[in-house]
Amino acid sequence: MTKRILGNLVFAPLAALTLTACASTSAPTATDEPGIKDVFGDRFLVGTAVNVNQMNGTDTAGADVVKRHFNAIVAENCMKSEEIHPEKDRYNWTDADRLVSFGEENGITVTGHCLIWHSQLAPWFAVDDAGNPVSADTLRQRMKDHIYTVVGRYKGKIKGWDVVNEAILEDGSYRHSPFYEILGEEFIPLAFQYAHEADPDAELYINDYAMNMPAKRDRYVALVNDLKARGLRVDAIGMQGHMGMDYPELDEFEKSIEAFASTGCDVMITEWDMSALPTLNRGANVGDHVDYAKELNPYPDGLPEDVAAEWNRRMTDFFELFLKHSDKISRVTLWGVSDGDSWKNDWPMKGRKEYPLIFDRNHEMKPFMQQLIEKYKS
Ligand code: G3I
Repeated sequence: MTKRILGNLVFAPLAALTLTACASTSAPTATDEPGIKDVFGDRFLVGTAVNVNQMNGTDTAGADVVKRHFNAIVAENCMKSEEIHPEKDRYNWTDADRLVSFGEENGITVTGHCLIWHSQLAPWFAVDDAGNPVSADTLRQRMKDHIYTVVGRYKGKIKGWDVVNEAILEDGSYRHSPFYEILGEEFIPLAFQYAHEADPDAELYINDYAMNMPAKRDRYVALVNDLKARGLRVDAIGMQGHMGMDYPELDEFEKSIEAFASTGCDVMITEWDMSALPTLNRGANVGDHVDYAKELNPYPDGLPEDVAAEWNRRMTDFFELFLKHSDKISRVTLWGVSDGDSWKNDWPMKGRKEYPLIFDRNHEMKPFMQQLIEKYKS
């Protein structure tokens, strides 16, 4: 298990010591309070997805929250193929370089998201100039070129990569992505092979949402065991953790944590958020949409107290579950810094206002995490 991060073990007590040393004699102020990473960073990496505005100086409030509370970051979008490799012979490194530099300058672990994914796929990637699917050989070469170039550029700077994202459907069948249509199931081992060749020291992850679903769980256990049986490196299985008020059930999520850990891989919670609104869609496919209806945006001016209380209770239950299994879980990453940043706003309906993250639109920490810090800080 590669999960113990010495840096965090050393960092956390030092941070606590520093805080104590510099704390004024008066009552502790908000800045004297330990950050999330100070309290939980020695159990697993505590991360967040970051957007380009937090990395380019536009959203300094968000960047400050990242520096204070998280010891891991992942690109929400800028490392996806449509962004980083928009044309066959052109890469766009600007935002990805800025993110990696931010991590290096602030001592924050960087993970890469994501190398092979059907969504936000560069439009040229799997088709020829006439728009027809390319041959298997051509797609293999394009995957290899993309992965070698992107992973190779950040060799030694990015701890690990979401190599393949969302390859399996809820019923356990393979998603019929262009990669699957052209290469069959082999696109997955190929992606892991290329990533390992590009950076032998990088951790390699497979990642998906709705990983509490039994059929999906079983398929990933079999898939990862097969990859390992082939001698391929797979370090972790990423459970995205996009949740709502009525899904997933805690016990099914826990069964998946245990099943994935049985493969010998770490488990990661890679994109945690929890919708506070009545569920419209249990998936995470940003392409899903429903027509506007006023009643589908029930809380435009903030959550009612009872809803907020239930949301905080449910977030506590899941974070306590992650702590219970911190021997298996090597990273817990939130999919965004503050509520205003979340992809869940306007999803699956434009005009829908969400409240799914740890920090609210004023970058204030929500009660559940304040209470957890109070409970677990040494
Ligand atoms: O960058 C363009 C901008 O130039 C343009 O003006 C604007 C309006 O069209 O669109 C911008 O691109 C958007 C991009 O986010 C950056 O903001 C895309 O339209 C939009 O589709 C994209 O959404 C992202 C989504 O993945 C796309 O699939 C979300 O921010 C991101 O949170 C979401 O994250 C995914 C994970 O990668 C994988 N797991 C599911 C998760 C949620 O869908």
